[in-house]
Amino acid sequence: MAEPLLARAAAGSAGVDYGDVQGLVRFGYNRMTEARFFLLAIRDPAAARTWLSAAPVADAVERRPPPPTAMQVAFTAEGLRALGVPASVIQGFSPEFISGMAGEESRSRRLGDLGADAPSRWRWGGPGRVPHLLVLLYAEPGRLADWQRTIQGEHWTTAFQEVECLPTSNLDGIEPFGFKDGISQPSVDWKRERRVEGDQLEYGNLLALGELLLGYPNEYGKYTERPLLGVPDDPRGVLLPAEDAPGRKDLGRNGTYLVLRELRQDVQGFWRFLNREANSNPQERQRLAEAMVGRRMSGEPLIPPGGGPIPGVGPGAEDTRQNQFTYASDQTGTRCPFGAHIRRANPRNADLPGGPGSLLSRLIRVLGLRREGIRTDLVASTRFHRILRRGREYGPGLSPEDALRPDRAEGEARGLHFICLNANILRQFEFVQNAWIMGTKFNGLTGESDPLLGNREPIPGCPVTNAFSIPREDTQPRRIAGMPQFVTVRGGGYFFMPGLRALHYIAASPITEGDNRP
Ligand code: HEM
Repeated sequence: MAEPLLARAAAGSAGVDYGDVQGLVRFGYNRMTEARFFLLAIRDPAAARTWLSAAPVADAVERRPPPPTAMQVAFTAEGLRALGVPASVIQGFSPEFISGMAGEESRSRRLGDLGADAPSRWRWGGPGRVPHLLVLLYAEPGRLADWQRTIQGEHWTTAFQEVECLPTSNLDGIEPFGFKDGISQPSVDWKRERRVEGDQLEYGNLLALGELLLGYPNEYGKYTERPLLGVPDDPRGVLLPAEDAPGRKDLGRNGTYLVLRELRQDVQGFWRFLNREANSNPQERQRLAEAMVGRRMSGEPLIPPGGGPIPGVGPGAEDTRQNQFTYASDQTGTRCPFGAHIRRANPRNADLPGGPGSLLSRLIRVLGLRREGIRTDLVASTRFHRILRRGREYGPGLSPEDALRPDRAEGEARGLHFICLNANILRQFEFVQNAWIMGTKFNGLTGESDPLLGNREPIPGCPVTNAFSIPREDTQPRRIAGMPQFVTVRGGGYFFMPGLRALHYIAASPITEGDNRP
């Protein structure tokens, strides 16, 4: 069925061996507008290993013409266990991956998975419903059904039991509330040219490779934890040596963590609430929605571009127009509210509040002596908390006008299969979700969390979380109160998306502990 994995893993590039990286890390597969995600439990480990060994998993090498289909695979910690990967190897992964998205109550609380979002109410990923494997299929229009048949092949049903099959829909780059999506992403330093030394005084959008892929230096100049094996544990010599640990084999190298959350969007509830707040004025309704997102529905930012080039933004005109801005020019939040979704999800700041300056002013800032107001030092530096988003929409589209029609029946499921990739789930996805998106004190605010994503649950010390304030020039902010929940979590999980060599290694399990030691 496939080219042998290792033959393809040899193809490379100067910085990274793209032949060893799964393609989704580098490409969004936007031309492949059809996609379907399978959440699987392993029924028969031997058949699963046979299927995985032959699986034509797409790598990240750029091909002309680009292939019309792609498949990617990723595993939960339970999945690695079920395949026979030894516990001593699994221990090398990060604690949050091992525990899983819904594995601990305190994690669920931090992620905001409470009330209607509690894992016990999820369709999958909650107690007793954690999948082993995620198989992502992508195809150009009209090709998905055939591609699925090819992929599933003879071993599929023996090997796996379907926990869920997540369908997606092509809404032409518009997410279900009606906003253009997929506009701001970090640029990845594939060529490994970025030198990170000391504080970064300006916001940048170019990210060290180690923030995305395991086995490379991250924004701290360090290597993120991952399983490093002894040479005897890799008797077939499949894995690459670890850059930072001579004599060790790197199971993480060229792999990443994939976070998946099924987020159901109440599109009718969203537009009906805003319509009431806007006294049925269509322009005002749209203005309120745009204030909540932080961009126009067309994707244009609420902050006019300016302030000079930002490393990692552009050079294309569209990216420059849409992403060459920071919030430094909007200290009062009157252009883009402090609590807007994109201002929370990426506050676009550097390491030191207030930006560059003389050595003396820097010292004063570091010592915390300058009092520039509460907001200058409340938001953590963004470069340690970036994620690469790769989600897909599901369900039929619904325009704001249709959402408001009184005769329109409610209840059709639509939303986002949110996917993000990162090398450190705790410091990247979980931090963004917890401190910024769910944070009720983000940026000096009180009584609110993300206007789109907030679960509106009261929390200790903060009985109200359902407000949204829109600062205004020369007058008090407009405070919208009593917002209902617009997005509900329906499932979720943490997956390890290995490099192709590591996938080959995993597929060759079981390797029993101490098996290959002399
Ligand atoms: C149904 C749920 C969600 C909706 C409707 C939504 C919608 C949007 C929209 C319309 C944008 C602006 C377009 C763009 O920059 O691509 C955006 C940006 C973004 N979102 Fe979300 N989002 C959702 C969930 C999430 C979650 C769960 C996270 C992370 C935990 C997240 C993180 C981000 C980030 C990092 C950006 C880019 C911000 C920037 O760099 O300016 N989103 N989202």
